[in-house]
Amino acid sequence: MTKLSVLMILAGFSLAVGGCDSDPMSEVGFRLPDGDAKNGREAFLYMQCNQCHTISGVELPVVPLADPPYVELGGKVSQVKTYGQLVTAIINPSHKLADGYAEELVSEDGESNMYVYNAHMTVQELIDLVAYLQPLYEVTPPQYYYRVYPY
Ligand code: HEC
Repeated sequence: MTKLSVLMILAGFSLAVGGCDSDPMSEVGFRLPDGDAKNGREAFLYMQCNQCHTISGVELPVVPLADPPYVELGGKVSQVKTYGQLVTAIINPSHKLADGYAEELVSEDGESNMYVYNAHMTVQELIDLVAYLQPLYEVTPPQYYYRVYPY
């Protein structure tokens, strides 16, 4: 076999394995511009996200008459909360419900109780909100405790 045909076989193989994404709905190549965390905090407050959310370690004004089961954002998580997960949680909240809450507390018939803001929120507000929220998550790997036996 010539060097060239080996190369061509390798190239074909890598395309078959992962290089070529033929699903037209694939998110490959999807990337929003970076947002501004300070503006994100402002958006969070004027959109009254704090009507239903607390943020771990952040003091937020209480929205009058709000009495939901608060869903906490930020804080310790065992895996990184990605940009993609946060964007999805905001504009497609029923896609995956937050972990750690009884389903009937945060959703009805599989639909998240969160408002859908898509007809009102600008893309700028969305990316600013994500820029604000993302760094408030702290990844802490699960702790394993080993029993240490005396010699
Ligand atoms: C009417 C109540 C309500 C309001 C207002 C609300 N949310 Fe939510 N939100 C929820 C509930 C309930 C959940 C949990 C169910 C789910 O994952 O959709 C949630 C989940 C989330 C999550 C995912 C949390 C996780 O741990 O996976 C994010 C992020 C979020 N909301 C951001 C926002 C932002 C930003 C706003 C304001 C623009 C907002 N929410 C306004 C009720 C609300």
